[in-house]
Amino acid sequence: MREEDTGAKLLAWYDANARVLPWRVPPGSSESADPYRVWLSEIMLQQTTVAAVKAYFERFIALWPTVRDLAAAEDAQVMGEWAGLGYYARARNLLKCARVVVAEHGGQFPDTEEALLTLPGIGPYTAAAIASIAFDRPAPVMDGNIERVMARLFCVEEPLPASKPVLMEHATLLTPSHRPGDHAQALMDLGATICTPKSPACGICPLMADCAARKAGIAADLPRKSPKKPKPTRLGYVYLARRADGAWLLETRPDKGLLGGMLAFPTSDWSDTPKYAPPLDAPWHDPDIEVRHTFTHFHLRLALRLADAPMDATPESGTFVPNAQFSPSALPTVFRKAFDLGRGLSIDGDHGKG
Ligand code: ADE
Repeated sequence: MREEDTGAKLLAWYDANARVLPWRVPPGSSESADPYRVWLSEIMLQQTTVAAVKAYFERFIALWPTVRDLAAAEDAQVMGEWAGLGYYARARNLLKCARVVVAEHGGQFPDTEEALLTLPGIGPYTAAAIASIAFDRPAPVMDGNIERVMARLFCVEEPLPASKPVLMEHATLLTPSHRPGDHAQALMDLGATICTPKSPACGICPLMADCAARKAGIAADLPRKSPKKPKPTRLGYVYLARRADGAWLLETRPDKGLLGGMLAFPTSDWSDTPKYAPPLDAPWHDPDIEVRHTFTHFHLRLALRLADAPMDATPESGTFVPNAQFSPSALPTVFRKAFDLGRGLSIDGDHGKG
């Protein structure tokens, strides 16, 4: 296979089939993409689908059209707008990065992979994506979609993750010096729409004639993956306390650790043997409801506890937030689930939704 031919076929396909996405400029465009929009989208797209990201991206751009606007934003507002996207360290680093770009780079993103790598929250993937898409540098971009395309195109049978260096070598050889950003996005689109994990549409693939796994009849079986460790389950309690005036007991989680900096209901520790220690002296009610959520490394099951708190209650942690100041959409998904399950329950043993 000649890499230039494969690359040319890929770009021709992209010119005709590029997905229209809010952070993109059309293929072959004379204007280049805004580095701020490229950076924001690439951070959002890590471990998150294009479909889920679109609305968040549009909302962030409407609220904060430039990196200077974002750098000047209130932390709590940014964390609240990120709620639901998950992987909250990304949002904390997003703000840190915006502030470093403003304070140390005059509000301009650096234009090399090396310099981009020094910024908070920017790892090899994001640095390569920004360098190629926003600055037209031939930096090979590697994500899950592109790994799959490489494994098939070059019929790499060694399982992931051990095969990563080999897949990266192939991606590097394939990356052109002309239109590298479009090349990277073409691979992403190919992986998302044709070279899909299950039932790839090889019949309409622009690279069909070059695809070694297709020739071997095993495209759909690649990439092979080494078995993953099963996720452990952790247990805990989540405490929903509501005052007669409708205020809920909420807290901001510590910056370090899971869901750091996010709005939350108080919980116990999350472990095999969580300690039952409510944040407030009140008759706590057990509605026999569990909130389930899966994080990257474990499953979580939180037993819901509810209390009607007196107006003069003084909680050990958190504060009562009046209804008018509480936006449930600012809760990360696990607490949004708890709220949706608990909000309609009354404490008198009646489990009906109110
Ligand atoms: N996934 C990650 N980055 C992307 C991009 N720039 N376009 C489409 N899908 C992506």
